[in-house]
Amino acid sequence: MDKYIDLHLHLDGAITPDIAYKLAALQGIDLPNGEALEKRLSVSEDCADLNEFLECFALPLSLLQTKETLSEAARLVLDDAFSNGVIYAEIRFAPQLHTQNGMTQEDAVLAVLDGLKKSKGRGNIILCCMRGEGNDAANLETVELAKKYLVKDGGVVAIDLAGAEGLFPTSKYRGLFAKAREYGIPFTIHAGEADGAKSVRLALEYGAARIGHGVRSFEDGEVLKILKDRAVPLEMCPTSNRQTHAVEDMSAYPFMDYMNMGLKVTLNTDDPAIERTTIAAEYKYMEKTFGLSEKQERILLENAVEAAFTDDKTKAELTNMLFG
Ligand code: ADE
Ligand code: ZN
Repeated sequence: MDKYIDLHLHLDGAITPDIAYKLAALQGIDLPNGEALEKRLSVSEDCADLNEFLECFALPLSLLQTKETLSEAARLVLDDAFSNGVIYAEIRFAPQLHTQNGMTQEDAVLAVLDGLKKSKGRGNIILCCMRGEGNDAANLETVELAKKYLVKDGGVVAIDLAGAEGLFPTSKYRGLFAKAREYGIPFTIHAGEADGAKSVRLALEYGAARIGHGVRSFEDGEVLKILKDRAVPLEMCPTSNRQTHAVEDMSAYPFMDYMNMGLKVTLNTDDPAIERTTIAAEYKYMEKTFGLSEKQERILLENAVEAAFTDDKTKAELTNMLFG
């Protein structure tokens, strides 16, 4: 396989040292050299959980606080994905995390849209709301922006809920997704990653069109049944799941079980720079460690085309590029 789709890719988790140096140069910021920077931009092998994993985002986010750098980051991240064989990517970011130095959420959305247009790659944007305390108004603003800029392809296509699932449960966000539903905005929700199957159940109840990760769905047979009956895609990200200990022991990683059950599994990177991975490396890992076959890889890509937040014309083109 040399062509891929990546449906779960965080902009701030894709700032490689190379991109970081370019963004720092644009704003006269000094960064540590070589290995020291690599260490600060990626997770350590002894990462305990998602909460610790999320601490790695402070440095990349500090470089993404101007329109120019945010636009350039979007361009470079989509260029990188394209160079790695990704023919279609959905890049997600949280506008509210880019307002530290005076940008508005709307400025941030426009900057990322601008970068997307300038890239060699092809993709769409997902706006993340954030789990947390005291940011209800910021989350609602993100939903309003999604409504304002929503398109079928070539821009903002959906929203998401990201952040520390173990600390801020999905139940807190019922009202937020009621609003998204009222506006007809499609959404995915990070669920069943740092919290259990009940989080996936709620995401499904709220109307999520896809589930970010959904690793721990196996804890509840009924949740698996709903995923199967409604054919709700799972955006799985094996290296991320290993590093955040979404399952304690990777020998019990349920990816192949989910595929064998006929769930709509997709394979993605999540935060390639933080994890030091690429989409090709994720496929290799699944082949080597779990015996993922070529036939199964084709199914993953078919699932990704089906699950993509884009129009039928784009889906037909992607299918043709992958299998034509
Ligand atoms: N933001 C970036 N990566 C994330 C993850 N794996 N879970 C929740 N929020 C995130
Ligand atoms: Zn994620």
